[in-house]
Amino acid sequence: MGAGAGPGAQDVMGRGGPFAAVFLGLWQLSAGIQWLGLLGNGNPVAWNESQYCRLLNGLVPEQIQLCRRNLELMPTIVRAVRETKASCQRSFADMRWNCSSIEQAPNFSPDLLKGTRELAFVSALAAAAVGHSIARSCASGDLPTCSCGAVPDDISNSSFRWGGCGDNLHYGLQMGSAFTDAPMKSRKAGMQATKLMNLHNNAVGRQALIDSLETKCKCHGISGSCSVKTCWKGLQDLDSIAQELKMKYLGAVKVILRHMGLRKQLVPKELDIRPVQEAELVYLSSSPDYCTKNPKVGSQGTQDRQCQKNAVGSDGCNLMCCGRGYNAYTQILLERCHCIYHWCCYVTCKKCERTVERYVCK
Ligand SMILES: *[C@@H]1O[C@H](CO)[C@@H](O)[C@H](O)[C@H]1NC(C)=O
Ligand SMILES: *[C@@H]1O[C@H](CO)[C@@H](O)[C@H](O)[C@H]1NC(C)=O
Ligand SMILES: *[C@@H]1O[C@H](CO)[C@@H](O)[C@H](O)[C@H]1NC(C)=O
Repeated sequence: MGAGAGPGAQDVMGRGGPFAAVFLGLWQLSAGIQWLGLLGNGNPVAWNESQYCRLLNGLVPEQIQLCRRNLELMPTIVRAVRETKASCQRSFADMRWNCSSIEQAPNFSPDLLKGTRELAFVSALAAAAVGHSIARSCASGDLPTCSCGAVPDDISNSSFRWGGCGDNLHYGLQMGSAFTDAPMKSRKAGMQATKLMNLHNNAVGRQALIDSLETKCKCHGISGSCSVKTCWKGLQDLDSIAQELKMKYLGAVKVILRHMGLRKQLVPKELDIRPVQEAELVYLSSSPDYCTKNPKVGSQGTQDRQCQKNAVGSDGCNLMCCGRGYNAYTQILLERCHCIYHWCCYVTCKKCERTVERYVCK
């Protein structure tokens, strides 16, 4: 899919003028991922006293409670925050919206404050990341409250036996959802539509995490003959999960809140005869095209972004620069080259210069 179609048209800001924009801005505020700013720019916290929980940024009271009761879990959540930010930026490095604004947490700009598809992606990724991080911490023995994941029920067939220590997905999902869904269950939660959107997208993220569980094996036996094989259930790395979620971001469905009998439910805006599907990311407000800088809508624009001259993808200059054109410059790279291995055991290299053409958007 072309990225031009991805980030959506500008219908929210276009309709109803500035008053409507302000109105939406206030009511669609999403408190769902403010916890990504829990450390702010402050110093690392010593996780030995529960009163630190109060000092964290962006947590709702229920999350502070969880923090107090599960202090030992907090370094794992901090790691998940770091991984969410890094993985989001790696996944979107070739897109106009490149996730750099996630660093402003918890004081997000409108791209992640309103019910946009960018928020949908980040919520899902963050929910997956917390579950991922906890599941891994269990397996590596970092947490006193959990250990290796359960061995699968199906009796291992003759070709391998279950062994090793699997990631504890069960515990990761349980504690992860308690933490990441808490803002939507909080009394302070915002508008119902946004709440439902965030809950739905968190669940999509966790499902992507579940789907990433795979059987990993290790061979034993004389000189790796693999006469004995042990296998365990392990999660794929977060970047692969982010790639899955990026596909869902590109195909995300715009939804509205509908009364369905006594309940309120999100339904696709264009096709509101069916409920939203469990696997799809949903959003409420369309995003700007992120071509030009406009802080009011959280767009940093693509001026000075690097692009690939003749590429047709989202990082091609045509799409990235929104047709404004690009400037070329040459860059001289100093690289190690003609490396020679000397027995034993070192390598010598020469330094070579290589000239590369680079392109940046006008
Ligand atoms: C927590 O750690 C800090 C810094 O290392 C130390 O000063 C403090 O006494 C510790 N508190 C407890 C309850 O262990
Ligand atoms: C045994 O497990 C392996 C690895 O999952 C699989 O490839 C193979 O088909 C299984 N064999 C039987 C008999 O189920
Ligand atoms: C992301 O976009 C911003 C705004 O255009 C830019 O300043 C930043 O360098 C970009 N980050 C990366 C990794 O390309």
